[in-house]
Amino acid sequence: MSSCLLSILLLCSSVGVSLAAVTFLQPLTIVVSLDGFYYKYLERDLTPNIIRLRDEGVSAPYMINIFPTKTFPNHFSIATGQYAEDHHVLDNKVFDPILNKTLGYSEDLFTKGKSTVPFWIVNEKSGNNKHSGVMMWPGGDFKYQGSLPTHGKTFEWNYEFNKRVDTVIKWITNSSAPANIVFLYIEEPDSSGHKFGPNSVELNNTLRKVDDTIAYLETSLKNNRVHNYNLIILSDHGMTSVSLEKVIDLTKFLTNGTYDFDTATPILGVSPKKGFEEEVAEKLKKASSQEGSNFSFYRKDDIPDEWRYKKSFRAPPYLLVAKHGYVFNDAYETIKEYASYAKRNLTPNSIFGLHGYDPSDKSMLPIFIANGPSFKRKHTVKPFKSVDLFSLFAHLVGADIRSYSHSGDFRRVADLLAVQADGKSDASPGFSAPSIYLFMFACWIGFGL
Ligand SMILES: *[C@@H]1O[C@H](CO)[C@@H](O)[C@H](O)[C@H]1NC(C)=O
Ligand SMILES: *[C@@H]1O[C@H](CO)[C@@H](O)[C@H](O)[C@H]1NC(C)=O
Ligand SMILES: *[C@@H]1O[C@H](CO)[C@@H](O)[C@H](O)[C@H]1NC(C)=O
Ligand SMILES: *[C@@H]1O[C@H](CO)[C@@H](O)[C@H](O)[C@H]1NC(C)=O
Ligand SMILES: *[C@@H]1O[C@H](CO)[C@@H](O)[C@H](O)[C@H]1NC(C)=O
Repeated sequence: MSSCLLSILLLCSSVGVSLAAVTFLQPLTIVVSLDGFYYKYLERDLTPNIIRLRDEGVSAPYMINIFPTKTFPNHFSIATGQYAEDHHVLDNKVFDPILNKTLGYSEDLFTKGKSTVPFWIVNEKSGNNKHSGVMMWPGGDFKYQGSLPTHGKTFEWNYEFNKRVDTVIKWITNSSAPANIVFLYIEEPDSSGHKFGPNSVELNNTLRKVDDTIAYLETSLKNNRVHNYNLIILSDHGMTSVSLEKVIDLTKFLTNGTYDFDTATPILGVSPKKGFEEEVAEKLKKASSQEGSNFSFYRKDDIPDEWRYKKSFRAPPYLLVAKHGYVFNDAYETIKEYASYAKRNLTPNSIFGLHGYDPSDKSMLPIFIANGPSFKRKHTVKPFKSVDLFSLFAHLVGADIRSYSHSGDFRRVADLLAVQADGKSDASPGFSAPSIYLFMFACWIGFGL
């Protein structure tokens, strides 16, 4: 009994005074995605605010993202707890064989998963007075289970990051429908990474800029007297250097008119034209298995199971995956675009940035940092999977997710939390009402001593 009291007191002092101010409300949760934030960028020491949040809070060395390591698939997996083969967002641009067209950012791209529900909808359906805010997060614009989030804003390139924060603050402080969870998307440092490469001075400057955005968010919360919040800073993927010196020219191996390409470098879907199925497969197989080949070839059925990709109805008949640093023919166009956005001269050895490779390639891995009353302090956890976040969010807002279909495992994220939960329901709320009474009572005694 006394050791129990002691542990409660220890908890009170470790959690600190901010929690004493906790009422019966769960803390607000703010999830910020800094697109393309390769986990090793933190080692550059250019992001003092993010590093402080990491050192004082809890973090993983990196997070294990999904295949392919692209923006839309990964943001949607973070939000839904599903892999690409279940939510069907296989890439930023995907050929849909049923609709017989290539889909970019659109309702059709995001809404074909049978039981796919982003957490911002789960939150609102989990109780009265639960309101979500979705600031430019990929997939946030469409209805799932017939609903949109209470607060939302569609993506706009170059919309000032601080203005996004200002709007988020309005959602949080809205008196009739205050947001209890917000998903805030920032397209940097991905954009600078593509245009200038991950080792550029421009990328370094962008790291400082996104760090300032995080500082602005913290200051704005403070100025609006919002203190009881959990802040999660994460990303979708990393970044690596590429140049046109490493293009794999597939037209050398294939005959014109026998195939179509789909999706985008560094992975490529290949659809053979009718009658050329075996010819195209044999030629790609031969090219990929020759000495010093720079790509892998898979028939749909042979795509590795662990990628959780091939079961989607959108998976292409053949899939090519470039080796680290290599690109396919479509990179001529992509890299030309990066050069033009960046107003740079394009030479064969100009360096740009790319992602999308197998997540076992460590350059593709993103950050994960969490800080706030629900999380451990000054602690590091083992890397976990981005699909596990769905059950973490459920825990943070007290949503029961047993009726939702997801591939996460709460046990892999439980070590992030200050108060251990069994996760049996995969969704027990952070504090049950009786334990809050006990906890606050103990804290009062604790602070009185
Ligand atoms: C798919 O669309 C293309 C044109 O984009 C057309 O040529 C083709 O016939 C269509 N296929 C089917 C099965 O409708
Ligand atoms: C609060 O949010 C609701 C729902 O989006 C909106 O209609 C209302 O205008 C907001 N109130 C303020 C003061 O912004
Ligand atoms: C980027 O920042 C790192 C760490 O401060 C530094 O070592 C590196 O030289 C910088 N890169 C460029 C191109 O300035
Ligand atoms: C293949 O087709 C492209 C246009 O799609 C054309 O530019 C090229 O000359 C063709 N190559 C051959 C060998 O026919
Ligand atoms: C792989 O790329 C290297 C250049 O980076 C090249 O020398 C080699 O020939 C390529 N392999 C094949 C099979 O094309």
